[in-house]
Amino acid sequence: MNAREQWGTRAGFILAAVGSAVGLGNIWRFPYVAYEGGGGAFFLPYLFALLTAGIPLLIMEFTIGHKYRGSSPLSYSRINKKAEWIGWWQVLISFVISTYYAVIIAWAMSYSVYSFGLQWGGDTEGFFMEGFLQRVDLVAENGSIGSFGGFVPAILIPLILVWVITLGVLFKGVKRGIELANRIFIPTLVVMFILIVIRAVTLDGAIDGVNAFFKPDWGAIFEPGVWVAAYGQIFFSLSIGFAIMITYSSYLSKKSDINNNAFIAGFSNSSFELLAGIGVFAALGFMAAQMNVPIDEVVASGVGLAFVVFPEIINTFPGLNTTFGVLFFGSLVLAGLSSLISIVETYVAAAQEKFNISRKKAVAFGGGLSALVSLVYATQGGLFFLDTADYFINEFGVALAGLVSVVAVAWFLKLLPSLQSYANEVSDIKIGAWWRVCLGIITPVVLGWMFLQNLMTNIQ
Ligand code: PFF
Ligand code: NA
Repeated sequence: MNAREQWGTRAGFILAAVGSAVGLGNIWRFPYVAYEGGGGAFFLPYLFALLTAGIPLLIMEFTIGHKYRGSSPLSYSRINKKAEWIGWWQVLISFVISTYYAVIIAWAMSYSVYSFGLQWGGDTEGFFMEGFLQRVDLVAENGSIGSFGGFVPAILIPLILVWVITLGVLFKGVKRGIELANRIFIPTLVVMFILIVIRAVTLDGAIDGVNAFFKPDWGAIFEPGVWVAAYGQIFFSLSIGFAIMITYSSYLSKKSDINNNAFIAGFSNSSFELLAGIGVFAALGFMAAQMNVPIDEVVASGVGLAFVVFPEIINTFPGLNTTFGVLFFGSLVLAGLSSLISIVETYVAAAQEKFNISRKKAVAFGGGLSALVSLVYATQGGLFFLDTADYFINEFGVALAGLVSVVAVAWFLKLLPSLQSYANEVSDIKIGAWWRVCLGIITPVVLGWMFLQNLMTNIQ
């Protein structure tokens, strides 16, 4: 076998890690979760989760990758043969997420094009649900599926493009593919997004939206569910618990810093979230003012925010609306692609090592398989499958993957002390006993409880 691939520069690794972290979760998930979780008051549980779970877990995953130098399954198997399945579990979750994440990026691509001439028309919801998805009530009342229906051409072509770009980048390898793509995507994304935010905050009514976003509802911090939401957001948003950060850090050179890089990646991701919260709520404030309704009536998240509410906002935009549309959907595409690349790399790397095949073969098989599976969501019943997959991933997948790995590492493999000294040896900032308390006690307790709660509400 050849020597392990490596990042070209430290900045390259950080950009790739930030590229993975900054995704749809920042733009369409965070603003809503924060608003629902107490607005300004949400920052308390959010920062607590970032500092006690987010960054400590990032350090743990960076250390595992750096030290054991493998994809998640290989790294865990090098720790202990019996732990290999943890890596495969994470890889499986990554595989499922990647199949539908690709479809959302494809939608955003289509909408970047539709921005020219505002092709979604006046009824943005009707356009998305019936026009764009051509969803002729295939999902019966009781939730069962009538039939797959045919493929939706408006989605199929961009979806193929998404996979061509993603697999093309992975084909090129770590330095000339992943690193290079992120060097282009991330700075471009940041510039585009700052332009969006500047324009959004100068709209009429924007200030009311931003105020609504920051207005603290202190009662929220006494609700356990809000803390659960904060942890969930941090895990998803930092891409921790699903094999990504282990894989990416396995390409670090022996001397690379760990702790400092984890802080940089963690705070960059949160800064982008804050920026997105301001931008999204400024735009929502504008919308509410236009419609003369309270902000609550226009607040949305996810698919509804991006493909129904935003087109509506863009429709009523004073001048330059096409530009704003292209910037907004283009940002979703760039943020999404850099995350998709990272998540597909988890199973490309795992397959490469497990079956002892070349990167190119692993990309062709692994990536090809996920591309094929993703076609399911490009059918007329696609949104139904997407909702279902997304629901289970968010309710169980992310929390469970994080919980399993943290409990295994802290309690069964008893690795925290050795990982701590390994990380400190290569890092400027030293981590202390607090790091072991966060991972060994605080995080398992909160996550375990989060999982049980989700289980309970789903059984009822
Ligand atoms: N950190 C990503 C986000 O906030 O959107 C989560 C993610 C989702 C990463 C899907 C990768 C991915 F393919
Ligand atoms: Na994120």
